[in-house]
Amino acid sequence: MPTMKAVQVKAKGESMTLVNIPVPQPGAEQILLKVEACGICHGDAKVIEGAASSYPRIPGHEVVGIVEQLGPNASKWKKGQRVGIGWHGGHGETTALTTDGGYAEYMVAYEDGLIAIPDEISSEEAAPRLCAGETVFSALRNSKARPGDIVAISGIGGLGHLAVQYAKKAGFEVVAISRGNDKKTLALDITLIRQKITSPQIFRLLEARK
Ligand SMILES: NC(=O)c1ccc[n+]([C@@H]2O[C@H](COP(=O)([O-])OP(=O)(O)OC[C@H]3O[C@@H](n4cnc5c(N)ncnc54)[C@H](OP(=O)(O)O)[C@@H]3O)[C@@H](O)[C@H]2O)c1
Ligand SMILES: [Zn+2]
Repeated sequence: MPTMKAVQVKAKGESMTLVNIPVPQPGAEQILLKVEACGICHGDAKVIEGAASSYPRIPGHEVVGIVEQLGPNASKWKKGQRVGIGWHGGHGETTALTTDGGYAEYMVAYEDGLIAIPDEISSEEAAPRLCAGETVFSALRNSKARPGDIVAISGIGGLGHLAVQYAKKAGFEVVAISRGNDKKTLALDITLIRQKITSPQIFRLLEARK
């Protein structure tokens, strides 16, 4: 049976562990993805805090991958297509809480939860947009602020560093609020900021910690 590297939370309150487990098989209306990149979001901490429906659970809800295999009745995607998935894991499902997420070499997803990823964007750059990017983009778009207004971004983390870029591009006067000066250069030069964390990098970090 083929196996894969994955990062699991084995039970509520436990930290993440690098494991070798069988590659999952897609069920009805599901797709097996070969994971290309998975963003790291503070929301992943929810898995450790106990929000998953069962354990062990694989975190990671900002996933971009290639369609590797179609489960029975799956018809919406073709093998080889590049797709992404965020928290919304299909009808009634939440990626990384009710189904395993993308901190793994392979992941099974319901076909309804997937979106196509355009060729113009790399997997590493697309992945964080599937939760962090979407969240701050929606907040800016649905706020009453209009171009020229002052927008303050509090905390230049995973969400904040994208919000600074979106707000700047949208024509707002942007104020970046941080606890120290270490992110000042990044906040002022938004072109320097990139969130490029990939699954192989996570594996290397965890392996180095052993
Ligand atoms: N749809 C949603 O509603 C949604 C989606 C995704 C995430 N979230 C939530 O959004 C929050 C941010 O997520 P993230 O992935 O961006 O986390 P993150 O990368 O850890 O960034 C959080 C930032 O908050 C600031 N911060 C942390 N502790 C602070 C404190 N005690 N006082 C003031 N500032 C503090 C820090 O900014 P500085 O280092 O610049 O000081 C830090 O970089 C989390 O609570 C997450 O659960 C919500
Ligand atoms: Zn998230």
